Amino acid sequence: MESMGSLSRTHFCNDLGIKNVGEQVTLMGWVLRRRDHGGVIFIDLRDRRGITQVVFNPEINPEVHAKAHQVRSEWVLAIQGRVEARPGDMANPKLATGAIEVLVTELRLLNSSETPPFPLDEDVEVSDNLRLQYRYLDLRRPEMAANLVMRHKAVMVVRNYLNDTGFLDIETPMLTRSTPEGARDYLVPSRVNAGKFYALPQSPQLFKQLLMIAGMDRYYQIVKCFRDEDLRADRQPEFTQIDMELSFVDEEQIMAINEGMIAKVFKETLGLDLAPPFPRLTFAEAMDRFGTDRPDVRFGMELVDLTAIAATCGFKVFRDIADKGGTVRAINAKGCAEFSRKEIDLLTEYVAQFGARGLAYVKMKAGGEWQSPIGKFFTEEERVAIATATNAAEGDLLFFGADIKKVVLQVLSELRVELARRLDLLKKDDFRFTWVTDFPLMEYDEKEKRYQALHHPFTAPQDEDIAKLDSEPAAVLSRAYDLVLNGTEIGGGSIRIHQKKLQSKVLEVLGMGAEEANEKFGFLLRALELGAPPHGGLAFGLDRLLMIITGSDSIRNVIAFPKTQKATCPLTDAPASVARKQLTELHIRPDWKE
Ligand code: AMO
Ligand code: AMP
Repeated sequence: MESMGSLSRTHFCNDLGIKNVGEQVTLMGWVLRRRDHGGVIFIDLRDRRGITQVVFNPEINPEVHAKAHQVRSEWVLAIQGRVEARPGDMANPKLATGAIEVLVTELRLLNSSETPPFPLDEDVEVSDNLRLQYRYLDLRRPEMAANLVMRHKAVMVVRNYLNDTGFLDIETPMLTRSTPEGARDYLVPSRVNAGKFYALPQSPQLFKQLLMIAGMDRYYQIVKCFRDEDLRADRQPEFTQIDMELSFVDEEQIMAINEGMIAKVFKETLGLDLAPPFPRLTFAEAMDRFGTDRPDVRFGMELVDLTAIAATCGFKVFRDIADKGGTVRAINAKGCAEFSRKEIDLLTEYVAQFGARGLAYVKMKAGGEWQSPIGKFFTEEERVAIATATNAAEGDLLFFGADIKKVVLQVLSELRVELARRLDLLKKDDFRFTWVTDFPLMEYDEKEKRYQALHHPFTAPQDEDIAKLDSEPAAVLSRAYDLVLNGTEIGGGSIRIHQKKLQSKVLEVLGMGAEEANEKFGFLLRALELGAPPHGGLAFGLDRLLMIITGSDSIRNVIAFPKTQKATCPLTDAPASVARKQLTELHIRPDWKE
């Protein structure tokens, strides 16, 4: 192999065009493809920015041509040559540099490469594991490089915007105490303090509040957060937040600043003009109409409450559920009456995983006729009432869910999205934002037999509900807000409690005695006694935002080195075993077999 010597890159591989014809240029990059056309060799040279076709002609330079013969995919080259216009019929309009090629006069072989474990120039299915094991090759693929470029752009827009809006970028510790965001902590044992552990932050929540108490006024950070939870397409064990906190503001100001930021990100990444303010739904309305607090509003098929009709109908299953305080609801899959038995069976199986005990349906036929396994249980009047309520017409397909409210809402909201997927209604270039507001402050956890904060325990209750904290905690609404984009929660935040007395009260209702509260959050409670300003904030999931902007199906595609579903890294093989000695130093005596 050879060195670069005195060669110095003059252009990137996407820079050259007709304007450069006749220029001497030097390019460096990787061999994407090599084609041998009866003596003349063509190589597509690739770097982060693009591709240039470079040409080796034996008649012009036999020595260089002979060298090019050895070259294989992913070898690393430096070339020097003259830019030529491609003959008219050879131009490639699909390529940014398709009008030109570079006639090579000097070639340096900077490095060879073994045959890559998967081809980089084709749209072949490669297993996720292999992609992650060879992530540095995977990232050479233009669509992956483009995702990282997009992420960088979005981050730059955010930093500039927040800087212009008076925010300070301040770092907070990674080795810290547990923050209650509701997931399990990643713990780090302390060597110098035997038996003590740091927790990696689930978010910088408490530190950013302390920064407000410190008078920093506006803080932001693009920051890693760590949560040991079950992973999904939009969940990684370590992920990045655009985290912020502001003093002397209310919900409206925080939402407006963030709408401005998101609009700017979409303008500068995708060239789109969003039109804030974004629509809002209260939690109650979102649950009622969509069955979820992260509604995808790109399509309709809203939930319709039929409990009143069900309560007196002849179908015993529905009537019993209505009698026992459950709910019966339906969604109208417009124009789907032609679904086959098999398709309906598959959907029934699909919703069973969310607890559905069945999936009654009605195919609406001509003249209001019902084709349905439950048709015989309903009178003509009831059929008309159901058709009116669901806005059903000939050719529509109605699906019913009957159970306790929690189950029905989940089943129908999942069914709604699954139907939209099958009907191709989830358009990736249609970006629909919704603020969800007025969340309950807490909900009762049947398993743990106590109230849990819906957002986190530092979220302020709405003023008019404070009186209900003792008598009716589940009825207290909070000053929290989430931003939902196309059915994904991309961000969430709240106005915080800034007075010691109220914070202690909320912790108490959450089942935390004064002693435990002091043990865990004494430092915050103390700070609240020392001049805490009114404050609030919000955090976006940067990975989720980028997943949607780039049209990716998983946040893994916008993270340079993500983890697998089982939280492993196939590239470095983390997590890994450590030497006994290290554990001993950390005062840990393992109980597993080696
Ligand atoms: P929250 O827990 O809602 O709020 O997190 C904020 C946003 O972070 C994203 N997110 C995740 N992204 C990828 N993988 C995960 N495991 C993951 N978990 C969360 C989501 C979510 O909306 N401290 C509060 C914010 C505040 O109150 O200011 C917090 O962390 O997009
Ligand atoms: P069955 O009387 O059990 O044969 O049910 C008749 C129809 O009602 C079938 O299509 C079932 O899938 C449906 N069904 C039964 N229980 C429920 C339920 N809890 N919610 C929705 N549909 C149901």
